[in-house]
Amino acid sequence: MTVKKRILTGDRPTGPLHLGHYVGTLANRVRLQDEYEVFLLVAYYHALTRHVEKEHVVATRGFTRELVLDYLSVGIDPDKTTIYVQSDVPSVCELHLLFSMLTTVPRLDRVPTLKEVMDAENIEQETYGLLGYPVLQAADILHVRAHLVPVGKDQASHVEVTREIARRFNFLYGDVFPEPDALIGDVPTLLGTDGKAKMSKSLGNAIMLSDDAKTVEQKVRAMYTDPTRIRADIPANPEGNPVFQYHDAFNPNKAEVEDLKARYRTGKVGDVEVKKKLIVALNNFLEPIRTRRAYYAARPNLIDEILAGGAAKVRPISQETVNAARDAMGLGRGQ
Ligand code: TRP
Repeated sequence: MTVKKRILTGDRPTGPLHLGHYVGTLANRVRLQDEYEVFLLVAYYHALTRHVEKEHVVATRGFTRELVLDYLSVGIDPDKTTIYVQSDVPSVCELHLLFSMLTTVPRLDRVPTLKEVMDAENIEQETYGLLGYPVLQAADILHVRAHLVPVGKDQASHVEVTREIARRFNFLYGDVFPEPDALIGDVPTLLGTDGKAKMSKSLGNAIMLSDDAKTVEQKVRAMYTDPTRIRADIPANPEGNPVFQYHDAFNPNKAEVEDLKARYRTGKVGDVEVKKKLIVALNNFLEPIRTRRAYYAARPNLIDEILAGGAAKVRPISQETVNAARDAMGLGRGQ
């Protein structure tokens, strides 16, 4: 039997996931769970890097369950993928501390997501924790010695920090860690329903994986299309139009999509028909997801068991890595 390579990836629990997440990373995660040994973490500590108020901490716990429901409903199989909450395996913090000696403040200052987050959240002075966000992520990835990290494009710079830390550690103390690769979804970022460059919950332009059929219908009807096309008989370009982008991503009937595009280009189809067919395609795509969600939502104890089992599986793996790191460094282990 060949040993499967490992994947570790995860998300901060900040709210329900949407179609953009599906296209960006969830589809990859579902696909890879047979080929790899997959670890999927709910990044609870990372969620604390933005807001520390008690209400926020408590709300994050609630979002954790929602996130796990999203995972399970898209087809992540808890028998194949180990799902756990980051803070349930606190030995990762020890690795984070050791790693924090191996990277410099200027290096972390240059990570592009830091400035983006500070701008977006009006943070004037970053905490030590926020600055160290990628170091904690490196500890997540490396405490299970993962080889591959499927993430969205925005996370590539964090995986780069991880690689540098692994390299530095191995150079100083001997080979303990693999240098993991990022696996970035090859599909273009999904546009928002308003035509903006990115689907995002905070922009209010997202279709959630948990939206019911009626909500999907309403959102698609209100979707942005080419504003210069005031009549259906005006030829227009399907490129850059989110309605067609979603057709490409979610409508398995390629002949139908090509026909709609051809008629759109020649002014022979109205937006209403294109949208109606999209509503059908999206609801067909979401239906099995809704069915699985209902199954797990009705069994809250099962979710608790999945998370407890996940943490129980990761703890010894993490501890073994921390021990190996301490041994390699000559730090000793105490008794
Ligand atoms: N930073 C990731 C995000 O916001 C979440 C995350 C935390 C993560 N630890 C990770 C992703 C380890 C991949 C691997 O999406």
